[in-house]
Amino acid sequence: MLKVIHVTAAAVSYALFVVRGIWMINGSPRLGERWVRIVPHINDTLLLAAAIWMTLLLHQYPGSHAWLTAKVAGLLVYVGLGMVALKRGRMRRARIAAWLAAQAVFFYIVAVALTRNPLPWF
Ligand code: HEM
Repeated sequence: MLKVIHVTAAAVSYALFVVRGIWMINGSPRLGERWVRIVPHINDTLLLAAAIWMTLLLHQYPGSHAWLTAKVAGLLVYVGLGMVALKRGRMRRARIAAWLAAQAVFFYIVAVALTRNPLPWF
């Protein structure tokens, strides 16, 4: 159940991030709409709450289990790049680059989750 919530919230997080990036690229005013500024935060809180709950049930924690350490590190990079892409980036090119890089990091996190390996491609 928690895993379903976690994975669904992860998919919603990705979809909302891609859509907001497209609006950013097009200069769409939709990016400033109220729900667009609120819903992603609620969803991401749900994603993280389910994650933390699962770590407690599994007795596997970031810091002691490498794959979870990698996921938290990946999440921080994903959030940082996301902020550059949607808020902080000064130049359009930098924002688009950050948007693309954030998506690569997202798929790295998914690969870590599926393989439980911080280096999923080995
Ligand atoms: C954007 C961030 C994240 C994404 C995209 C993501 C994605 C996923 C996916 C796809 C799974 C399912 C793996 C499977 O089917 O076996 C999963 C499971 C899990 N994730 Fe995440 N995750 C993220 C962040 C986190 C964080 C930050 C933590 C911990 C602090 C975490 C902890 C877990 C745990 C404990 C499981 C369950 C493993 C199991 O019992 O099967 N996740 N995650």
